[in-house]
Amino acid sequence: MAEKERRLYIAGNWKMHKTSGEARTLAAEVAKAVGGSSRTIMIAPPFTALAAVRDALDSSRVRLGAQNMACEESGAHTGEIAPAMLTDLGVETVILGHSERRAIYGEDDTLINRKVRLARAHGLEVILCVGETIEQREAGEAETVVSSQLEQGLAGVEELSGVVVAYEPVWAIGTGRTASPSDANAMHALIRSNVESWYDRDAAEALIIQYGGSVKPGNAAELLSQQHIDGALVGGASLEADSFVAIVRALE
Ligand code: 13P
Repeated sequence: MAEKERRLYIAGNWKMHKTSGEARTLAAEVAKAVGGSSRTIMIAPPFTALAAVRDALDSSRVRLGAQNMACEESGAHTGEIAPAMLTDLGVETVILGHSERRAIYGEDDTLINRKVRLARAHGLEVILCVGETIEQREAGEAETVVSSQLEQGLAGVEELSGVVVAYEPVWAIGTGRTASPSDANAMHALIRSNVESWYDRDAAEALIIQYGGSVKPGNAAELLSQQHIDGALVGGASLEADSFVAIVRALE
């Protein structure tokens, strides 16, 4: 498979934004506007808006995603959401290992790996987020950190189908500062070569690697045209239909 035969995958992570009413309106606008797109498209509202967004997406081809998931099937886990609760709501994809979960809520690679394996066991597509902090980058550790997060996140995952990787340098998230397209591409190439050494060439060639961190309509085309960048995980610009749809349509 030639690299750019991978279908581009644009995902919106709404983070802690939108009440269910607001989410329903935004999801309906997005679904209507991207009807003819050939891209894979996903939106991940807060848990409380999943049902409203599912209803608004109706029979559209936009996938429904969640932003996190518990590491256990069920039980005494106050405040957590089990995989079966997500699939019951029609969720198809779950974002795991986001840097905000790692930094603010102390999620480590072991916990994230448990979630990755549990999500796959429930048939959920996983978007596994990896990325270095600015201190790590300046210390020359970006490649080591990302490789280690990836290796630990994927431990025990035998099949890579159903797994997407999102490279999100922490210093680029919500800052307006993106990795340069060539730096991002180099990290994506490293991720792909790691995957080739741990799995095989076909798995590496088929792997979708999204870039995340201040992706906007103005920089999406240049990022998405890089050889190893197969999509975007969009935060702030996914909160308005116009900007998210412009990113979906970049290069189309
Ligand atoms: P921004 O697009 O707001 O930088 O957020 C990126 C992100 O964290 C997506 O998961």
